[in-house]
Formats: sequence, structure tokens, C-alpha cells
Amino acid sequence: MTANNDNTTWSGRSVTCTAPINIAVIKYWGKRDEQLILPTNSSLSASLDQDHLKSTTTASISKEFKRDRLWLNGKEESIENPRIQNCLIEIRRRARKRKHNDDSKSEMLNWSVHICSENNFPTAAGLASSAAGYACLVYTLSKLYDINGDVSDIARRGSGSACRSIYGGFVQWTVGEKKNGSDSIAKVVADVDHWPEMRVLVLVVSDQKKHTSSTNGMRNSVNTSDFLRYRAEHVVPSRMEEMIKAIEEKDYQKFAELTIKDSNQMHAVCLDTYPPISYMNDTSRKIINMIHAFNKYQGELKVAYTYDAGPNAVLYLLDEHVPDVVSLINYYFPPCDNIRETFIRGLKVDFKTDISQ
Ligand code: ADP
Ligand code: DP6
Ligand code: CO
Repeated sequence: MTANNDNTTWSGRSVTCTAPINIAVIKYWGKRDEQLILPTNSSLSASLDQDHLKSTTTASISKEFKRDRLWLNGKEESIENPRIQNCLIEIRRRARKRKHNDDSKSEMLNWSVHICSENNFPTAAGLASSAAGYACLVYTLSKLYDINGDVSDIARRGSGSACRSIYGGFVQWTVGEKKNGSDSIAKVVADVDHWPEMRVLVLVVSDQKKHTSSTNGMRNSVNTSDFLRYRAEHVVPSRMEEMIKAIEEKDYQKFAELTIKDSNQMHAVCLDTYPPISYMNDTSRKIINMIHAFNKYQGELKVAYTYDAGPNAVLYLLDEHVPDVVSLINYYFPPCDNIRETFIRGLKVDFKTDISQ
């Protein structure tokens, strides 16, 4: 996109933001409402730092633009994508609700928008691109249209997990009770500085597009898995309380045990789906076995694994154990230049230019 410098004919505004991926330790797997994206259970994740895995989105409005357009990773995509539309419509509705005394600003609401987004990591490979991508889209649009207040419910309409990437630190997405989803929003459980020793290692087992998208996979699970209902009703509510307590008390042993069990349970629900869904491969399973053997040898939990809808492992561990665990992985899985270490951090606005004069 290039800006025409002729200020007499051109006016517009452009905002660029970045957003992190988040990796859940209590997993979201199942929707009770597909349209509003309301989950069958609450979930909890940490938003990671943005040095390695992030989305960057620029949104611009201009009088000169003829229609809304969207580019993803350098390629034009259809702006008619229903999830993009759901976010855009809700953003514009909220922007209209805000009373603009300034006429020039309310006029901007009728202009078309151009959105350009890039992920610096594989898209749709089970590394939470939809979370970073939609959080970034909604956050950027909210800045573009001067919308204040929580926008996690809008990000949720793009991709469920995206609502958690709106905030930094440990973030819970509450299941909510209301039909309109107004209480199914993201809330910070512990802020970014709460547990500074916590580290995350992302082990990229495969950067290929997954065979079954999260959306389709969880839809099949909701339709066919009895275990999913059992998990939502009888496991997650108490597990969530325990997890929040473990985070608040920085109790790594409890945190690690719950993280491992919840990942395994989500993948067990996938296997209970008919036909079964299997996101892990042999390498994923080898990593699991290696970690259990290592923890056993150490006499306590030194590292916890979790898997999203893909074969890639994400490890949560304390900083003092990073060197040992990296050596272990390098020993069993050489060469291993695919390890990315990240700190838990949050969403930030990278820069913002306002050229609407
Ligand atoms: P992942 O495991 O990467 O989250 P999903 O199947 O959940 O995979 O979602 C992938 C989809 O998310 C992509 O096909 C695309 O529609 C959307 N997406 C990913 N990144 C972005 C982005 N930066 N902006 C908008 N949409 C995105
Ligand atoms: C396994 O948020 O990608 O990563 O809401 O259909 O877009 P949609 O699904 P998505 O599902 C994420 C599933 C998960 C677990 C999690 O992040 O909690
Ligand atoms: Co996703």
C-alpha cells in the first residue's frame, strides 16, 4: 500500500500492531455455539513473547479505497471470510455507537479498510496462528476506530483461542452462561511479571498445514465424543480452580502435572471422536516418553509438555532447567535448530501512525 502525499485529496489513517500466540495449559476443545464461538469449557493459556512467534497486522482506512480488502502472508484473501466479517461488523457497530463530535471522524466509518497481516511462523500448523492472527486483527481495528474497553469477545468471534491473546500473562477464557456470549471473555489470571522464571520451549516437529483444522476437529468431537461432555462437566471446572491456585502460588509441580494431564485429555477426546483424530505423530510421542523418563529420573517434574491440534510440542519449564532440557532434546533429536525459547509476555502496540489531518 502506498500513501498519496497529496493532502488535499487524500486522507486516511493507518495502524500497525503485533500480537503473540498463546499456548493453553487448560485446553479449549469444543463449541456450544458455532456462530458466536462459545466454548463447552473454560480454558487458560499464557501469551508468549513476540520475538519468535507473532502476527503483525496493518489496517488502513482511506477515502480513496474502493472496497474492503485483506492480505494474509503476502497473498490476497477473500474479505468475505465469515469470521473476518463477524469481527469487522462488530468493530464498526461499536465504532458507530461511540458518539463522535468530530464529523471528520464519523465520516471515516464509511470508508473502506485494507488489512494486511503476516505471521512470522507457519500458519495453520498447530502453532496457534489463528489466536495471534485474530487477536491482532481485532486489536488493530479497535485502535484504528478508537474503540476502548475489552475487545476479547470480538476476537473470540474470529477464533476462540484468539480472545486469550488480547492480554499478556496467564489468561483465562471463561465459558460464560449467557446466550449472547457477553460473559464468555478473556480475563487476566496473573500478569506478565507474576512468574518471571517461567519459560516456554516450542519444538517444531512439523511446520506443515494440519490435516484437520481445529474448527472441524472440535466440531466432530462435539458431535461424537461422550468423553468431551464428561470432560467439560466433570473435569475442567475443578481442574481450572486447581490450575489458577497453582499459578497464583507458583507451584510448578502442580502446574506441570495439570498441564500434562490436560493436554493428554484433549488428545484422548480426539481419539474418542468418531472417526478418531490423531494430531500427534511418532516424534510427538517420543518427546512425551522422553519427558516422562527425564522427570522420573530427576525425582520431580522439571518439564511439562502440551500439544495443540498438531504434532508440535510446547514445553513449560523453569529457567534453571532450560540448559538441561535443551541438551536432552539435542541428544535425542539431533540436529535441533528448531527449538525456540520464549518468555511469557503479552500483546503490544508496535507503532501507530495517525495521518488523518
Ligand atoms: P492454527 O493451529 O495455526 O491456529 P487453525 O486451523 O486454528 O490453525 O487456524 C488457521 C487459520 O487462521 C488460517 O487458515 C487463517 O484463516 C487464520 N489466520 C491465521 N493467521 C492469521 C492472520 N494473521 N490474520 C488473519 N487470519 C489468520
Ligand atoms: C487445541 O481457537 O484454533 O489450540 O475457535 O475454531 O478457531 P476455532 O479454534 P481454535 O482452537 C484452538 C484449540 C487448541 C486449544 C487451545 O488453544 O485452547
Ligand atoms: Co487455531
